[in-house]
Amino acid sequence: MANKSLYLVAILSTPTLLSNALSPRFIDCQLQKPINASSVLGCPSGTLFVSSTDLRANFSSIQEAIVSLPDQGRAFILLGEGEYHETVNITRSGPLTLLGQLNTNALSPTSNASARNLVTIWNNIFVQEGMDDAQSSVLLVAPSFNASLIGAGPTGAPLQPLFGITDFKAYNINFEDRAADFAISQALVTDISYANASFYGCTFASYQDTWYTGRNASTYVVDSIIFGQTDYLFGFGTAWFEDIILANRACGGGIVAWKGTNRTDAPGNRYGAYINNSKIIRSPDANATLDITGKCFLGRPWNDLATTIYMRRPWNDLATTIYMRTFMDDTIQPAGWTPFDSARPTIMNTTFYAEFHNFGPGSNTSQRVHDHILTPAEAADFTLEEVFLERPKWIDFTYEH
Ligand SMILES: *[C@@H]1O[C@H](CO)[C@@H](O)[C@H](O)[C@H]1NC(C)=O
Ligand SMILES: *[C@@H]1O[C@H](CO)[C@@H](O)[C@H](O)[C@H]1NC(C)=O
Ligand SMILES: *[C@@H]1O[C@H](CO)[C@@H](O)[C@H](O)[C@H]1NC(C)=O
Ligand SMILES: *[C@@H]1O[C@H](CO)[C@@H](O)[C@H](O)[C@H]1NC(C)=O
Ligand SMILES: *[C@@H]1O[C@H](CO)[C@@H](O)[C@H](O)[C@H]1NC(C)=O
Ligand SMILES: *[C@@H]1O[C@H](CO)[C@@H](O)[C@H](O)[C@H]1NC(C)=O
Ligand SMILES: *[C@@H]1O[C@H](CO)[C@@H](O)[C@H](O)[C@H]1NC(C)=O
Ligand SMILES: *[C@@H]1O[C@H](CO)[C@@H](O)[C@H](O)[C@H]1NC(C)=O
Ligand SMILES: *[C@@H]1O[C@H](CO)[C@@H](O)[C@H](O)[C@H]1NC(C)=O
Ligand SMILES: *[C@@H]1O[C@H](CO)[C@@H](O)[C@H](O)[C@H]1NC(C)=O
Ligand SMILES: *[C@@H]1O[C@H](CO)[C@@H](O)[C@H](O)[C@H]1NC(C)=O
Ligand SMILES: *[C@@H]1O[C@H](CO)[C@@H](O)[C@H](O)[C@H]1NC(C)=O
Repeated sequence: MANKSLYLVAILSTPTLLSNALSPRFIDCQLQKPINASSVLGCPSGTLFVSSTDLRANFSSIQEAIVSLPDQGRAFILLGEGEYHETVNITRSGPLTLLGQLNTNALSPTSNASARNLVTIWNNIFVQEGMDDAQSSVLLVAPSFNASLIGAGPTGAPLQPLFGITDFKAYNINFEDRAADFAISQALVTDISYANASFYGCTFASYQDTWYTGRNASTYVVDSIIFGQTDYLFGFGTAWFEDIILANRACGGGIVAWKGTNRTDAPGNRYGAYINNSKIIRSPDANATLDITGKCFLGRPWNDLATTIYMRRPWNDLATTIYMRTFMDDTIQPAGWTPFDSARPTIMNTTFYAEFHNFGPGSNTSQRVHDHILTPAEAADFTLEEVFLERPKWIDFTYEH
């Protein structure tokens, strides 16, 4: 922000006039300040400022700022405009909020997170022989190294007796794994395990396994864009995606690959991926020569725990994926769902795949396999409160989108 008159415009205008996608609580903190004003003006007291370019910042690396925090207590970190080439790893238990700086010039009622965000956190690690998927992630939110591990097989890495952060939030930040511009192998952007985390106006970009909600984790993502090609929403916990864009950069596996957990290991949980009021589109950055019409599957089962008890009600099934009120463009494969691979050629009935009131060219369910079309009465069961077994206290419901 170059001069004071622009700054005054920013302060005097209400955020809702500039954009329909912002946090009323944090917008004053997030807006860039004139050069002679403190960057943390308008921020919660004690907010740390991180900038890769501003010499007045407390830290030039986000991870250094995180490591400086005590394990307990609420903390806020404002990230100055710029790119941060690092892995961000959050093991503390006290609540933490990361805020991306914003500029009024980038805000408009029609802007999306890609067009708006000024802060990008990126790395370029992908999984090679001997590595766990976790070790490629740009953002790790887990109480320990072992708790961040993903592992393989129906139950993955061993269950840990730990819980990490109870309330992690990120606003208006881009997270990218730039390992390659194709599905080179697992190249994660997030690994959130044994933690509760929510994201507002963010983007997450990779090709394979972009998003991971791990064991015993609960996550909520709103007004955000997730880019990927193969299994790019995968998980082992409970994830709600509200008003997001799923941007198909190509097609591989399924968009969603979720894993279930049996009743002994997670009593009463409602693990699954729940996608509401969203859009599935061909990514604006997909290779122009690529023909993906009718080629992207909505999902495939990461495990099916074929030996466990079968029950009728969805809550008692093991691996749930539900798309509700979501626009699907013509990249969607008419069959919708696919078995994991030739070694597991059927979709077991321990998975629960469902759709409700989706629309757009890819939403025609006449050729779907293993699909439950929910009635309005059934769909009424799939609310945030039912899925998380409470109205989560770690979600910011004031964010406007
Ligand atoms: C910042 O600079 C402007 C002139 O560009 C001046 O009017 C204002 O008083 C300064 N503010 C502070 C806090 O120094
Ligand atoms: C962060 O920087 C501000 C401004 O320089 C300073 O007042 C504050 O004490 C610093 N905080 C920490 C924890 O170093
Ligand atoms: C975000 O907005 C920009 C600018 O309008 C546009 O070019 C881009 O395609 C949009 N991205 C998505 C994923 O819709
Ligand atoms: C994250 O930080 C913790 C604590 O410093 C460390 O033990 C762990 O190895 C780190 N995780 C990764 C994947 O580097
Ligand atoms: C992490 O897991 C490994 C392998 O299971 C185990 O040997 C090690 O003791 C664990 N570390 C901690 C700190 O629990
Ligand atoms: C977390 O683990 C505990 C202990 O196994 C279990 O009771 C609880 O249901 C799990 N919660 C989630 C959200 O997975
Ligand atoms: C649940 O999975 C655990 C392994 O994680 C296993 O020991 C247990 O027997 C399973 N319980 C049932 C009921 O399948
Ligand atoms: C797009 O795909 C074509 C055909 O596969 C390939 O030759 C070209 O290198 C790709 N372009 C980019 C930017 O990846
Ligand atoms: C699932 O399939 C098994 C056999 O493959 C069958 O016994 C069971 O009744 C089925 N359960 C449901 C809910 O359809
Ligand atoms: C759905 O697809 C079937 C053919 O697969 C077609 O007969 C039907 O008209 C389509 N429905 C709509 C609403 O386009
Ligand atoms: C899901 O969509 C319905 C209908 O638009 C809406 O009432 C509900 O609040 C949405 N769920 C969440 C968690 O926003
Ligand atoms: C994490 O979120 C879930 C769902 O909202 C909640 O049941 C659980 O108590 C939370 N965990 C902690 C440790 O706050």
